[in-house]
Amino acid sequence: MHDFARRLIAWQRRHGRHGLPWQERRDPYRVWLAEVMLQQTQVATVIPYYRRFVARFPDVAALARAPLAEVLRLWSGLGYYARARHLHAAARTIVREHGGRFPDTAEALAGLPGVGRSTAGAIAVFAFGQRAAILDGNVRRVLARSFGVQGERAQWRLAESLVPARDVETYTQALMDLGATVCTRARPACERCPVAARCVARRESRIAELPAPRARARRPVRRARWLVLLDRGRVLLERRPARGLWGGLWAFPEPDSGPPARFCRDRLGCTVGRIERLAPIEHDFTHFRLRAQPLLCRLESGARAPRARGRRWFALAGAAQAAVPAPVKKLLLRLRDELGERGEPRRAVAQFQ
Ligand code: ADE
Repeated sequence: MHDFARRLIAWQRRHGRHGLPWQERRDPYRVWLAEVMLQQTQVATVIPYYRRFVARFPDVAALARAPLAEVLRLWSGLGYYARARHLHAAARTIVREHGGRFPDTAEALAGLPGVGRSTAGAIAVFAFGQRAAILDGNVRRVLARSFGVQGERAQWRLAESLVPARDVETYTQALMDLGATVCTRARPACERCPVAARCVARRESRIAELPAPRARARRPVRRARWLVLLDRGRVLLERRPARGLWGGLWAFPEPDSGPPARFCRDRLGCTVGRIERLAPIEHDFTHFRLRAQPLLCRLESGARAPRARGRRWFALAGAAQAAVPAPVKKLLLRLRDELGERGEPRRAVAQFQ
């Protein structure tokens, strides 16, 4: 066994993360769910979502039976919603084409929607005890620093050559844990690292340069206006089109470039009084930063609440629990706290800006 693997395994046993909810049993469904949730999201964020998910969908058949809207509702706030759509599609494929049994090799797993080569490797290891390599962002960093090896192909080759013949689960968990807790991007804790003695980046004083940061253009800013229509403690949300950003989730109506009051009248069928600008909401996506300007609109007294397909009036008290993306949830909670559940200001709205 490579000295690197031996040291990592010994370190994981003493210092790695144990008792994570998806480590409780070797159930391919649970392992797959956890690995997909963990693709872009930290352990601490994932845990409550994971628990809710397995409580509501205890096995792949339950997930396959559920409507996509229900899956998105439980996913909402976790971000990268393509993961939820792929998860649902993969569940249906597994039930329909594999009789509900998970494929049990990394190659076959990588054929499922939303399961890339590294996730497939992790599932093969944790669910089936197979020898397979992983290479996610954390592992790339560990290998770049420890061995001075960069580049996709070279790193995969290295990752595969390091996989030990036994204790592959402990080894794989060790790589993940080392990347997340010791060999962090900024200020790694080299004094706690089991492989620091032979680390190329440390020896050559290149910790800050390895891995080379990916050249990324500064995120462009995309601006939006959100109409916050309030009517006696209720708020109007629209279901986003199935394709595109936040597909299938509930969000605030976005007016066209004209006056918002006209949009409310012509497109939403309601008359609004004075419109107030609230503090903007910012949210980072992979390729852009969203800057949303919420516009608080109160329905004129006696104005009818408009009804339409794909629109719904939610009680302000509970709207944040609907299938809403994280920045929409953030604004809904802020509104509830600032305005109270009746949607009436507890203090002057001016102070809220
Ligand atoms: N990141 C990706 N997979 C993980 C796992 N199984 N445990 C902890 N962190 C992870």
